[in-house]
Amino acid sequence: MTSTRRMRSLSGIKPTGQPHWGNYFGMIAPAVGLAAEAEAYYFIADYHALTTVRDADALRSDSYEIAATMIACGLDPESAVLWRQSDVPEVCELTWILSCVTGMGLVERAHAYKDARAKKKEPNFGLVTYPVLMAADILLYDSDVVPVGKDQVQHLEMARDMAGYFNAQFLGNIGYDNEGVWDGKGLKRPAARVQDNTAVVPGLDGRKMSKSYGNHIPVFIGKKKLRKRIMAIKTDSTPLEEPKDPTTCNVFQLYTLFANADEQAELAAKYRGGNFGYGHAKLELFAKADAHFAPRRERFDELMADKDTLEDILRLGAKRARATAEPVMERVRSAIGLPARPIR
Ligand code: ADP
Ligand code: TRP
Repeated sequence: MTSTRRMRSLSGIKPTGQPHWGNYFGMIAPAVGLAAEAEAYYFIADYHALTTVRDADALRSDSYEIAATMIACGLDPESAVLWRQSDVPEVCELTWILSCVTGMGLVERAHAYKDARAKKKEPNFGLVTYPVLMAADILLYDSDVVPVGKDQVQHLEMARDMAGYFNAQFLGNIGYDNEGVWDGKGLKRPAARVQDNTAVVPGLDGRKMSKSYGNHIPVFIGKKKLRKRIMAIKTDSTPLEEPKDPTTCNVFQLYTLFANADEQAELAAKYRGGNFGYGHAKLELFAKADAHFAPRRERFDELMADKDTLEDILRLGAKRARATAEPVMERVRSAIGLPARPIR
């Protein structure tokens, strides 16, 4: 059975604080872009956030913040399906089923788990299961492509592996013919979609931008704070009058995210020409970033001031997501030998 529906793009983002430029360029903007050519399924990964979050009010309000960010950044909630992960509880059922076909060796290789062990932190079991829940997120909706930053590619590979284990163990074959065409019976294996230029957005200190490093620039901070964050980007101590190398400069790298090729070439020439300081480059970055985000910030503030509307959008999204998940779960239950769901 081959499907005639459009390609389906699916991704998730954890409600763990204000989204930052890494989230925006790594996931949000590519996901919104894909919504023009694919069925868009995007969700707020509140179950995943529970591996760390212990503040109920923060979880609630950060979930709205993610929804408002996605919409302010151009996602149309009428055509896209936008929901909270926990509103479709079937994802937990599929997590359990996948955990029964997944070896410990696979989850022990996950970067987050290995990092926790290396730092001698006792990981909670949620962190161990994290990639299985993520595979369930992806496989529950027969996704085709998953737009994410580079750090999530390993999880994507694991999801593909788990689909293969499920198909092999319950249906006796991997579920794909020699041309790579899916037979429509078991679980569908998606592909990662990582954009080269934004695979890893650097933070203020040059390491990967991340909330956990505190080196991030939130997408919707006010103008003043934005300027202050940009001024805090680390640079080397080359004196103002000397030529500088744009390719090794953090400020320049961030500038390329907002600027077209001509603008990039122009700024690179200023770096190489001398008498141009990092402070000047930072001001150019600030102007570009502010122009990019200011109109979106306005929309974001409007959305955040109307939580009832956000709640309605998320509930309707959950209903639509659940309608897509149901037949997949029926397929899964039937392959395993579990009873079909009683009619509700
Ligand atoms: P954080 O590392 O700040 O906790 P998340 O893990 O919630 O961010 O990431 C959400 C999405 O944003 C994922 O798709 C992830 O790959 C992407 N992402 C996060 N940080 C970056 C970055 N610095 N560069 C590119 N993509 C990123
Ligand atoms: N693990 C992802 C992150 O930290 C969030 C996520 C959860 C996700 N489930 C997903 C991303 C499914 C893509 C698809 O960013």
